[in-house]
Amino acid sequence: GAAVEVDISNLKEGEKLTVEWRGKPVWIVRRTKEEIDDLAKHDSELADPESLRHPDEFTPPYAQNEWRSIKPEFLVVIGICPHLGCSPTDKFTPGPQPSLPNDWPGGWLCPCHGSTFDMAGRVFKNKPSPDNLPVPPHMYLSDAKLLIG
Ligand code: FES
Repeated sequence: GAAVEVDISNLKEGEKLTVEWRGKPVWIVRRTKEEIDDLAKHDSELADPESLRHPDEFTPPYAQNEWRSIKPEFLVVIGICPHLGCSPTDKFTPGPQPSLPNDWPGGWLCPCHGSTFDMAGRVFKNKPSPDNLPVPPHMYLSDAKLLIG
């Protein structure tokens, strides 16, 4: 499939942009300073904090770092749960969702079987998904332009 060029110049802190690449939703998330700082605080609760499982498939070398990204501010992940392919929802999606846990530093929750992910797309321990949300191949063409694929 063709690579997708994305203008990220209007993405504000705390916002998420979704684009389609090879028929999959790719999330571009501009993390807040607080969210970036929090990433280092819960490694022991994660299934694969350093993204060592299947690095070829899930985390390219340039994202094998504490932010799981090229730039600490921007997370780029495929928004599909590695367990059985559902689409995780934002933790703070408005609306009545009484069964959702809210005591975890995230992130996203998969509505199908309850996997939870932090703000680097890393899955928490003892959840159905053994893997973190995949990071697609990508690079920055400039500060404002991202190329996915
Ligand atoms: Fe996400 Fe099962 S598909 S937890």
